[in-house]
Amino acid sequence: MEQTLNVVILAAGQGKRMFSRLPKVLHPLAGKPLLAHVVDTARALKPARICVVYGHGGEQVPRAVNGADLHYVKQEPQLGTGHALGQALPHLDPSGVTLVLYGDVPLIRAATLRAMVDEAAKHVVVLTAELDDPAGYGRVVRNRSGAVAAIIEEKDATETQRKLREVNTGIMALPAAKLGKWLTKLDNANAQGEYYLTDMVKLALADRVRVVSRAPQEAWEALGVNSKAQLAQLERIYQWQRASRLLEAGVSLADPMRLDVRGELTCGTDVHIDVNCVFEGEVRLADRVEIGANCVLCNTEVGAGTRIEPFTLISDARIGANCRVGPYARIRPGTRLAEEVHIGNFVEVKASEIGARSKANHLAYIGDSVVGRDVNVGAGTITCNYDGASKHRTVIEDDVFIGSDTQLVAPVTVHRGATIGAGSTVTRDAPPDQLTISRARQVSIAGWKRPKKGGEG
Ligand code: UD1
Ligand code: CA
Repeated sequence: MEQTLNVVILAAGQGKRMFSRLPKVLHPLAGKPLLAHVVDTARALKPARICVVYGHGGEQVPRAVNGADLHYVKQEPQLGTGHALGQALPHLDPSGVTLVLYGDVPLIRAATLRAMVDEAAKHVVVLTAELDDPAGYGRVVRNRSGAVAAIIEEKDATETQRKLREVNTGIMALPAAKLGKWLTKLDNANAQGEYYLTDMVKLALADRVRVVSRAPQEAWEALGVNSKAQLAQLERIYQWQRASRLLEAGVSLADPMRLDVRGELTCGTDVHIDVNCVFEGEVRLADRVEIGANCVLCNTEVGAGTRIEPFTLISDARIGANCRVGPYARIRPGTRLAEEVHIGNFVEVKASEIGARSKANHLAYIGDSVVGRDVNVGAGTITCNYDGASKHRTVIEDDVFIGSDTQLVAPVTVHRGATIGAGSTVTRDAPPDQLTISRARQVSIAGWKRPKKGGEG
């Protein structure tokens, strides 16, 4: 029979060694708070309840990581990991299994936890790991027949116990029915004067409940974050996992070590990604998309066959098929490019729709605009969409040719087939199929002399 599962995430600790005002569990890994990673993994187990024990950093924590399925419990003061679980107890189902996770151990995988939960209806299951350097961790002490006999914190350990390399990761699954009884028996007669969750081991054994250990499938799953160095290390492990999965799915990465995915990246077939690209939020790349070096894409969809040239920034936009964007382009929120659009270097597009085959190849700003099909926007063209108080729209219809260095002062419409002479300031609508030009006529002054340096006077 499926066990009722309750998950308790311990997240009240301070994290002194982060040297930050931000509570430790809110520091981001792959753009998302550490605690949110643990919460997402907990959710994957489909538990009856998720309880988060918070304390240090106060309401910042529940504000930053929330959801109708999360039950926050405040622990104040913070008297240890056992005390923390005790705070959650009144909110837990008294039957089934209680799984204890740590808000600062973000890479733990659901598969590892599922295996533990399956066994925890009758036993206490502790997740342990063999470390080359066990310093700082609680050590797993076994009896002569190899069964877990105790977990001893480093500060309470003897010289011999400190040499043990098997450590407690902190993650533990317990039969819920016994929890209340054991928690009332916890004491703080130890080196740190804290109520240790690890003492549940000896209480279980005294109650004739077996304690078994499990190892994570991957050693890095149990790594915790106590410092910025460890956070950086975990970020690299996480990114390496993401890159490996993309490679396995057939995505070409110029260098899997130089890619950062901070969200969800979905790729079609034959996608190529050059070095130093960052993907944030939800990004979808269709078949044959190529992303040049040093691009940042955020919440963006890119159509099949499109090439994003190096040093391009795109956020909250939809790029059609067979487009060419960049190098050095900036595509801002609310932009939609149809197919075969060319946006070149130093072109900024904001909240605009651009029709098929239209081009803005150099140095332009297109904001709050609707641009039709087969339009050519000359170099140096800008839409003056802001009058200092409000934003106005520019409409450029199909087959328009905008000469270089044009200012389109919105609200304004350039009708189908119109040509705007270079250097024009367009303040009124331009009629279809005509040349509209607003620059001063060119004059040349005969006999004019350029002033000389060091001349008379
Ligand atoms: C704990 C374990 C240790 C294990 C190590 C793994 C105990 C007594 N020791 O030690 O065996 O090797 O984790 O990293 O359990 N927390 C609270 N409230 C508290 C204290 C802690 O919520 O009052 C939370 C922290 O936010 C953190 C977790 O519990 O997420 C672990 O706390 P921490 O102080 O880091 O425990 P360790 O001393 O490292
Ligand atoms: Ca710790």
